Amino acid sequence: MIGSHCAEHFAKKKNKVIVIDNLLRSAIFGSKDKSVEYNWQYLSKLPHIKLIKKDVRDRAEMLRVFVKEKPDVVIHTAGQPGVKYSLENPFEDYEINATGTINVLEALRKANKRGKFIYTSTNKVYGNNVNALALKSQPKRYLFKHIKGINERFSIDLTGHTPYGVSKLTGDLYAQDYAQIFDIKSAIFRMSCIYGTRQFGFEDQGWLAWFVIRFFQGNPVTIYGDGKQVRDILWVGDLIKAFEAFLSRDFRYKGEVFNIGGGGGNTISLLELIEILERLTGRQVPVHFGPWRKFDQKVYISDITKAKKLLKWQPMVSPHEGLQRLYAWVSQNGHLFKKKTGEKT
Ligand SMILES: NC(=O)c1ccc[n+]([C@@H]2O[C@H](COP(=O)([O-])OP(=O)(O)OC[C@H]3O[C@@H](n4cnc5c(N)ncnc54)[C@H](O)[C@@H]3O)[C@@H](O)[C@H]2O)c1
Repeated sequence: MIGSHCAEHFAKKKNKVIVIDNLLRSAIFGSKDKSVEYNWQYLSKLPHIKLIKKDVRDRAEMLRVFVKEKPDVVIHTAGQPGVKYSLENPFEDYEINATGTINVLEALRKANKRGKFIYTSTNKVYGNNVNALALKSQPKRYLFKHIKGINERFSIDLTGHTPYGVSKLTGDLYAQDYAQIFDIKSAIFRMSCIYGTRQFGFEDQGWLAWFVIRFFQGNPVTIYGDGKQVRDILWVGDLIKAFEAFLSRDFRYKGEVFNIGGGGGNTISLLELIEILERLTGRQVPVHFGPWRKFDQKVYISDITKAKKLLKWQPMVSPHEGLQRLYAWVSQNGHLFKKKTGEKT
C-alpha cells in the first residue's frame, strides 16, 4: 500500500520508478481475495513505472537489478507487516524484514553509494516498554498520563518485543549503521498507523481499512480489549510528503530516526472509530469484544516534534477527512469487497 502510493506519487512527477515486490501480501494474511495484486495492476497502467516481480530475500537478484538500474533513491517498503504472522513464522519474518533489508542496503551500496535510502520502520520497535507508561482513562479512550507522545529517544531495550518488532528493528539498525559506516544517506521513519486508499486491511494489519471494509460489508468486527486503545493515525499522502521533505533538501542528517504518525492532534480510539464509522456509513455492525492481545500497545502516540522541526513537515489530513476518503474509495470499489454468499464472517 505505502509502496504503491510512493510509486504513483513520484511517477506522476515524471521520475522513473521501479517497483520490486513478490506479491506475497495476500498469502501472508491467508487471503484468497486480491490485495497486493490490485495495486500491481493499478501501477502497471501508469506511465514511468516499471514493475519487477522479485523477492528481497534473493540477494543476487537484488544486486543484479540495482546494478542495472542504479537507483538514486530507494524507499524500502517491502516487508512482512503482520505481528501474528511473525509469531507463527519467525524465520520467514526475519528473512523478509531483516535479511531482505540488508540485501537491499548492500545492493544500493554496491550500485550507487550516493543513493538515498528510506526505511519504513515501526512503533513496534519500542515493544512493551510503551505499556509500562502510566495511562489516564477517559470514558472512550486512554491517554498517556505524563507525556504527550513517544519520541525517538524512547528505549528499544529491556522490553518485550514480538518477532515482527525484532525483525523490523534489525532493519532499522542496519539502515542507521549503513549511514554511519558506509555513508549511505538513510532516514528511518518509525511509523505508527498509516492508512489510505488501496489498503486491503486485515484484522492483523491495516486495521483502520479492515474496520472500514467490515462496515461497508455490514460484517461484525472484533475488538481485543475494551476499545479504549488509542493510536495516532497518518494519511499515506502526508507520509509521502515527509519522505519527500527528506529527499528534496540536500539533507545534512544521515541515519536519522523520525517517529512519524499523525501525532497528538490526530489520534483515535477504537470506540471512537466505531462511532465515526456509524455516522459515516449510516450503519451499525455487531461489535464483539475479545481478551487483550499480549503484544498490543494500549496507547501509542508518536511525538512528531523532530520530524516537524527538521523536515518542516506536519500532517494535513484529519482522521475524519481521511476516514471519509477511505470509505469513499471502498464504496466506489465495492465489487472488491462484496461479501460472498456463505462467506464466514
Ligand atoms: N501500514 C502501516 O501502518 C505500517 C506501520 C508501520 C510500519 N509499516 C511498514 O511499512 C512497510 C509497508 O507497509 P504497508 O502497509 O504498505 O504493507 P503492504 O503489505 O501493503 O506492503 C508490503 C509489501 O511487501 C511485499 N513483500 C512481502 N514480502 C516480500 C518479499 N520477500 N520480497 C518483495 N516484496 C515483498 C508485499 O507483497 C507487499 O506488497 C512494511 O514494511 C511495514 O512493516 C507499515
